[in-house]
Amino acid sequence: MAASRLLFSLCTALAVAAAAAAATDTLKQGDSLTAPATLVSSPSGVFELGFHAPDPARPARLYLCVWYRDTQPRTVAWVANRVNAAAAAAPSLTLTAGGELRVLDGAAKDGARMLWSSNTTTRAAPRGGYEAVIQDSGSLQVRDVDGTVIWDSFWHPSDTMLSGMRISVNAEVRAQVRGPPERMLFTSWASDTDPSPGRFALGLDPANPSQAFIWRDGNVPFWRSGQWTGLNFVGIPYRPLYVYGYKQGNDPILGMYFTYTATNTSLQRFVVAPDGRDVCYMVKKSTQEWETVWVQPSNECERYGACGSNAICTVVQDGKAKCTCMKGFKPKLADEWNAGNRSQGCVRNPPLDCQVNKTGDGFLSIPNVKWPDFSYWVSGVTDEYGCMNTCQQNCSCGAYVYMTQLTGCLHWGNELMDVHQFQAGGYALNLKLPASELGFTYRSLENSRNSICRGAICFVSLSLFMVEAWKKYQRCSAQKLEEVKTFIYQISAKCWHAGYLTFDSFRR
Ligand SMILES: *[C@@H]1O[C@H](CO)[C@@H](O)[C@H](O)[C@H]1NC(C)=O
Ligand SMILES: *[C@@H]1O[C@H](CO)[C@@H](O)[C@H](O)[C@H]1NC(C)=O
Ligand SMILES: *[C@@H]1O[C@H](CO)[C@@H](O)[C@H](O)[C@H]1NC(C)=O
Ligand SMILES: *[C@@H]1O[C@H](CO)[C@@H](O)[C@H](O)[C@H]1NC(C)=O
Ligand SMILES: *[C@@H]1O[C@H](CO)[C@@H](O)[C@H](O)[C@H]1NC(C)=O
Repeated sequence: MAASRLLFSLCTALAVAAAAAAATDTLKQGDSLTAPATLVSSPSGVFELGFHAPDPARPARLYLCVWYRDTQPRTVAWVANRVNAAAAAAPSLTLTAGGELRVLDGAAKDGARMLWSSNTTTRAAPRGGYEAVIQDSGSLQVRDVDGTVIWDSFWHPSDTMLSGMRISVNAEVRAQVRGPPERMLFTSWASDTDPSPGRFALGLDPANPSQAFIWRDGNVPFWRSGQWTGLNFVGIPYRPLYVYGYKQGNDPILGMYFTYTATNTSLQRFVVAPDGRDVCYMVKKSTQEWETVWVQPSNECERYGACGSNAICTVVQDGKAKCTCMKGFKPKLADEWNAGNRSQGCVRNPPLDCQVNKTGDGFLSIPNVKWPDFSYWVSGVTDEYGCMNTCQQNCSCGAYVYMTQLTGCLHWGNELMDVHQFQAGGYALNLKLPASELGFTYRSLENSRNSICRGAICFVSLSLFMVEAWKKYQRCSAQKLEEVKTFIYQISAKCWHAGYLTFDSFRR
């Protein structure tokens, strides 16, 4: 009896030793991983999972981390026990029968303190049990023998976004999880050597998941991606990485989400740095070192609300912001504005015509901008004209944008927050203005009191339209027809508007 037990423990010891010698990517249920042993992803060995001390000055503070195996110095992509560092010489990772991962400060048999848990609980362990596997993508998964994933580190990121990750408002829940639903946030480290949660976090805006934000101290907006247009984020000037890297999707449980896929290499990552910037790194082929390829915010206009509301931010030299009230607006507090304090932004001056019981409000197109925050999508509107018309008829609507088949119709209220105007790129915003602020066409029509002018304008525009439409029709694809339709509406909206103004000034 005693002999067989001895034999058994000997066998176990040998098996563990063998497992430690040959790199494995799997932790079986009931086993534990104790520093300095690690798991290595297969088949390519890109990532390694183990205990690591990120602060060289404090080598005893150990964290369960996923890091790149081949880059020096060690680059960490995920941390489990961010809040509680291990202090015992040999912390351990275990996988329970219920499929829960636990990080302990010591070994389980010694009754060690639990530092972190994946908090997954399943009613019954499946036949064959669970296993935890580190993959070449960098994801640590808990799954049953059939391959059903019940927990994935990609659903609970640290500060790093890797290729293949999804970003959604809530963390993905496939198994029962203790506690309230978790927001999915990429939270910065406290400092370069301290993985405990820092001041900045990146995630999707729960009120409008088509935008990503970086918040400071929980809820102060620090950076905004701008709305997703279907191809890219409006606030991020053209970058191949972005244009091809992000795809939008919809999930019945998660709602809108984005997936990020690196174009060419798995050695590419986005990190929310301790100072709040989102940095994209790529491994340079020649030196095998990380190179910064993209940073946001990288100038003052990319900082959220740099000029306050209803103002336009343009970048002058050295990334400094130049703030200008939008046309038809003036600083709310002139003294503070002139002294460089833009926090109060700008207010309408003069008011909209609809605010003083007049008609005549029209729209001015502001080109190359990052659309303001607080947009809302208007359902049931399928063309530019309808989008403009619904905004014109609602005195609380301050601006609109229509993009065929992508975002559709967006409206804003009368607070236009965080507008950044680019040298090139970006999109146009149609700002509502009273007739007195609108340009040459409307003004001259209003003054001329001449309906012949209206007729002439309509005739010229319609002729131009016919030519344009014919040109487009000849290259006729189904997609072009949609553009033609939009064009008709734009022209008829202009005619309608010009005609209306003329009629209105006649009446007065
Ligand atoms: C697990 O649940 C406990 C208790 O609800 C909570 O304090 C802890 O933060 C959770 N851990 C994770 C990783 O969510
Ligand atoms: C992808 O990588 C290959 C080999 O390194 C390179 O030749 C190619 O230009 C890359 N393509 C893109 C789109 O970066
Ligand atoms: C800017 O103006 C606001 C509103 O008057 C004020 O509360 C704030 O303290 C000012 N900020 C600075 C830096 O002066
Ligand atoms: C606009 O008209 C309404 C109803 O006729 C009236 O109650 C309101 O005082 C008017 N507002 C202005 C600013 O003239
Ligand atoms: C008018 O706009 C406001 C805010 O911009 C919105 O809350 C309201 O629903 C709109 N009203 C109509 C009738 O569309």
